[in-house]
Amino acid sequence: MVHFTSVKDAGSLDKAVEEAFWIKKNRFADSDLGKNRTALLIFFNSSLRTRLSTQKAAENLGMKVIVLDVQQGAWNLETRKGVIMDGDKPEHLLEAIPVMGCYADIIGVRSFARFENKEDDYQEVILNQFIRYAGKPVISLEAATRHPLQSFADHITIEEFKTREKPRIVLTWAPHPRALPQAVPNSFAEWMIAAGYHVTITHPKGYELDEPFTRGAEIVYDQKEAFRGADFIYAKNWAAFRDPVYGKILNTDRSWMVDNNKMRLTDNAFFMHCLPVRRNMIVSDEVLDGPRSLVIPQAANREIAAQVVIKRILNEISKTERP
Ligand code: CP
Repeated sequence: MVHFTSVKDAGSLDKAVEEAFWIKKNRFADSDLGKNRTALLIFFNSSLRTRLSTQKAAENLGMKVIVLDVQQGAWNLETRKGVIMDGDKPEHLLEAIPVMGCYADIIGVRSFARFENKEDDYQEVILNQFIRYAGKPVISLEAATRHPLQSFADHITIEEFKTREKPRIVLTWAPHPRALPQAVPNSFAEWMIAAGYHVTITHPKGYELDEPFTRGAEIVYDQKEAFRGADFIYAKNWAAFRDPVYGKILNTDRSWMVDNNKMRLTDNAFFMHCLPVRRNMIVSDEVLDGPRSLVIPQAANREIAAQVVIKRILNEISKTERP
């Protein structure tokens, strides 16, 4: 069974981008492919872009879509194994997942890192239970350690706007008042390195990401030095990864915000962020509203990325069902 949880599931990235460009011009060419099929999109966490773009992509392919917000209307789900269920959670994920699998042909799941147990987060306990028990293809709509549909959309966007074959991409940490997961930066770094770009990551000391995601990237602690000559600046906040401060905010140093002075150090770089973004915390208004900001094209490409992935899965389902 095919699932989509990381860059590894995308196969050849050149081919994936080529398919994306084709879909962008032929959005409704496969509107029968998903006929009589249902996509169930399950959200343990809030979403605007992922919810709308994935639903739109599935509908472009002729699918019916059910969206379930676990926190609003579903039974409160127990996720730990082996517990005595005498608390406020009347249903266990172990039953809920195969039940959900009965109603869907493809399941999308959003389940962020909880910062309660690093091992559980980094072993993707929730996502992997869906893969194990749903009996249906699973798409990550952002899990604890990766946000692959976002990274795919970011890749499509860079390919659309780049002016040199292997652009210089800088992923920069920026301040935020709340502790945020590492899924977007992990996934972005991993995907950009796999794409063969020159990748630099800059952050204050203590915010090092998990090394398997960043292997092949240059780490520079001086943000201004990192910005020099960049073609794309990708800003994101994340909480500390390393023990004993996993999931903690180490500082909210406002001097790390991306502003026009820093963007002037680059090679006329484009600015990117996955959204939602905190204005004048992560990035100044002038950069976000400026002519080099790509945040809206990135969001638009979420639909295209999702459509490539869902189309591939629907094709696989059709193949396995052939007599
Ligand atoms: N970028 C992104 O995943 O946005 P949402 O959290 O709104 O889905």
